[in-house]
Amino acid sequence: MNFDFDRPIPREGTGSVKWDGRAGVFGPHNADVLPLWVADMDFAAPEAVTRALIERAAHPIYGYSLFPDSLFDALAGWMHQRHGWPIEREWVIWAPGVVPSLHAAVLGLTRPGEGVIVQSPVYPPFFSAVRVTGRRLIENPLRLEGDRYVMDLAHLEHCAKEARLLILCSPHNPVGRVWTEEELQAVLAIARRHGLAILSDEIHHDLVYPGETHQVLARLAGPDDRVVTAVAPSKSFNIPGLGLSALICPGPEDRAALVHAFDQLHVSASNPFGIAAFEAAYREGGPWLDALLAYLAGTRAFALGFIARECPGIRAIPPQGTYLLWLDCRGLGLDDPTLKSFFLEKARIGLNPGISFGAPGSGFMRLNLGAPRATVAEALQRLAQALRPI
Ligand SMILES: Cc1ncc(COP(=O)(O)O)c(C=O)c1O
Repeated sequence: MNFDFDRPIPREGTGSVKWDGRAGVFGPHNADVLPLWVADMDFAAPEAVTRALIERAAHPIYGYSLFPDSLFDALAGWMHQRHGWPIEREWVIWAPGVVPSLHAAVLGLTRPGEGVIVQSPVYPPFFSAVRVTGRRLIENPLRLEGDRYVMDLAHLEHCAKEARLLILCSPHNPVGRVWTEEELQAVLAIARRHGLAILSDEIHHDLVYPGETHQVLARLAGPDDRVVTAVAPSKSFNIPGLGLSALICPGPEDRAALVHAFDQLHVSASNPFGIAAFEAAYREGGPWLDALLAYLAGTRAFALGFIARECPGIRAIPPQGTYLLWLDCRGLGLDDPTLKSFFLEKARIGLNPGISFGAPGSGFMRLNLGAPRATVAEALQRLAQALRPI
């Protein structure tokens, strides 16, 4: 099969946050910057997904929908074949997204005032899920060793003493780590010693570069470990606007607590289009995903080489997973507001400031590689040009 990830597809006027939201986020005078920020991709979804949506749309009644057995079968087949993890139907809670699931986990598995650990720099909703629910945020910052981030396991053990829940990001956004089995076993051992529950956000589970293997934390866990896994086809197949995700929780008590958290708001995930796309992606999207990963690996290699050669003062942290590239810009010697305006005003590219991922992100920027390679090349050319002395 032939997949064309080089084809540019204009997104302006589609209500795209990444493209149409630029004026609101970067200011009206920056409405035309080249956007490589919010984590979706500028690629067409797999044809099988589009076909399933069109077929569903052809039936003109869009009523309340059940979650069909075939939806679970598609998820279970994918988790088993791709991730070696057999799951049972009763473990699955359908959810309207992974971020709502983070909130549900905090609400269901902890009480107000109790401690929740996050490992910064990390995807910003990890912080807000703890703060808005009135829990106590405990940070275990990752450590940058050479060009690779690691978990500070000694400090994690210390944090675990006063926490009820760890929100793990695996693979980790924004630093691109794919955690090893050894690292994950160490996390499980700490959680076991301190009675800690773990919400493992594995939304990026399929996006690992050739040669790397994503390990599902729950697959490594024992029967008494409390691990809840959040997954979705949304990042893998570029369908995040459609919402549907799955929380997988083998433990009946934790599962009941999560269901109760969703029930309190009567949040429903049953959108007929989300269901159609989710099922088609996991059932038929494998070849498309493999081609995507090969393409992204090429873009990663290009970007790493270009930045090393042409962007003095900037060091790219090589990602093992995700289509996100974490740029260490501390060599430029700019404070965070100045760094942000350098990228916008001088380079004319819209990235996520590292500081929005927590204090350890100060001096960093996050660049989204999920675009045709020519777009990434254009953005990096602009950056190199902006760095040249006048
Ligand atoms: C780690 C992580 N979790 C969750 C999400 C978003 O999940 P959802 O759109 O299903 O709420 C993202 C999006 O970037 C993410 O990186």
